[in-house]
Amino acid sequence: MTTQNNNAQVHGIFDPKTWTVTYVVHQGVGSACAIIDSVLDYDPKSGRTNHHSADQVVEYVQAHQLKVEWILETHAHADHLTAAPYLKAKLGGKTAIGDHITEVQKVFKGIFNLEPEFKLDGSQFDHLFKADEEIKVGNLVGKTLFVPGHTPACVAYQFGDAVFVGDTLFMPDVGTARCDFPGGDAKALYASIWMLLSLPSETRLFMCHDYPPTDRPIAFETTVAEQRAKNIHIHDGVSEADFVAMRTKRDATLEMPVLILPAVQINIRAGELPPKEDNGIAYVKIPLNAL
Ligand SMILES: [Fe+2]
Repeated sequence: MTTQNNNAQVHGIFDPKTWTVTYVVHQGVGSACAIIDSVLDYDPKSGRTNHHSADQVVEYVQAHQLKVEWILETHAHADHLTAAPYLKAKLGGKTAIGDHITEVQKVFKGIFNLEPEFKLDGSQFDHLFKADEEIKVGNLVGKTLFVPGHTPACVAYQFGDAVFVGDTLFMPDVGTARCDFPGGDAKALYASIWMLLSLPSETRLFMCHDYPPTDRPIAFETTVAEQRAKNIHIHDGVSEADFVAMRTKRDATLEMPVLILPAVQINIRAGELPPKEDNGIAYVKIPLNAL
């Protein structure tokens, strides 16, 4: 699905296995582009990765002769692995995430007892975006919005009237993202969401995921006005206290995402696999009774 507005074209590619949307933001054939929240396919039963989802991004970029300038993450995802290194090798571009990723790295280095050489400065990424930092994609000038809550390091990316909200909001009939991962904070998410919902009412909001009810097709674009009117968790009039109570109660019922253990270990490395051991194989760990 491609939509165009204010000279920014947005193409979303939905991954049905992880319910994730990867976006390509550009200004038409032959222009610069940014890729947001890519997916490396991973089979938890066999420990094998493949590039089916990422290759759809490659095909789109090549078909439109786009020049990749940025490969962006909204946060260290817990439900899928990023394909950033694969896309960078195939298409070029710089990888980036919000600068608070260092806090997430610190927490998970402890939980996974990572190798001493694992750096906690975010240097696995080519760039760390600060709150409100400008981001240029060719002639398109955007901004990074700091939106903690789901994780302490979440960012959204704004290009004109299009905002890629990451895991803050979902479609209005699905609600909002969970806040029970390490460093998550429902109060912070409430504030972050209201920062987004204070943008002009016609602002287009692009979701990182969709988990549709059985009676509607996949959708991942909505507006500030629609969210404020209809979001089941946080429409106009929902107080911070009510939101936090709802979120806390609901989070207590949610299972951990299937891929959280491999996803976190790969994503805090900007998508690189852990160092190979002396038999030439890379491993992810399963911490027992720690998460
Ligand atoms: Fe997430």
